[in-house]
Amino acid sequence: MFRISKANGRQASELAKIHATGFPLPWDQAAIRGFVEDKTVLSFLALQPPGPDILGFVMTRFVAGEADILTLAVTPELQNRGVGYGLCHATLRCLSGQGIKKVHLEVSTENLRAIRLYQKVGFERVGVRPKYYGARQGGQREDALRMSLDIQTAKFQFEPVSYLVDQF
Ligand SMILES: CC(C)(COP(=O)(O)OP(=O)(O)OC[C@H]1O[C@@H](n2cnc3c(N)ncnc32)[C@H](O)[C@@H]1OP(=O)(O)O)[C@@H](O)C(=O)NCCC(=O)NCCS
Repeated sequence: MFRISKANGRQASELAKIHATGFPLPWDQAAIRGFVEDKTVLSFLALQPPGPDILGFVMTRFVAGEADILTLAVTPELQNRGVGYGLCHATLRCLSGQGIKKVHLEVSTENLRAIRLYQKVGFERVGVRPKYYGARQGGQREDALRMSLDIQTAKFQFEPVSYLVDQF
């Protein structure tokens, strides 16, 4: 069973490495540290006890009662074990406790695996933003699917927790 913990700036280098495995235009270490140290951004990571290895992380900005998932990435060889789902679940529980009502995100329309994961947590499709993402090498710009979740009624609220959570 993995553990969910808050990220800190010293982990920026490792988080940037994980981010680079998941996205064609990855964020560098400075950008990651900026988000981790931003008080309007909730940054959770998943750790495998007892070691310090980071399995994945998620960052969410919350402002004025609403939140946006900024990014989510899991180390490739540790995917398909519920880590991405657990990171989303823990983030939504924390946001719910802080009185956040709605959560939004954008995900590439090509990223069917992530879309399935977000739907399972309770996000619904609300629109498409054409050519939202920069082109991969030799490719075309990708459209973004916009998804939203009403935090009070979302199904994650009624599911058991399958991970350990640090005291924050
Ligand atoms: C998308 C990504 C984050 C998924 O992470 P992951 O840890 O492999 O995902 P999980 O193991 O939690 O989910 C695997 C499956 O089990 C489901 N699942 C896992 N735990 C679950 C639970 N407790 N209850 C219900 N369903 C669950 C997931 O929805 C998913 O379903 P599928 O088999 O239909 O695909 C990962 O592939 C990744 O890092 N990709 C690159 C970066 C990226 O695309 N990020 C998202 C865009 S912002």
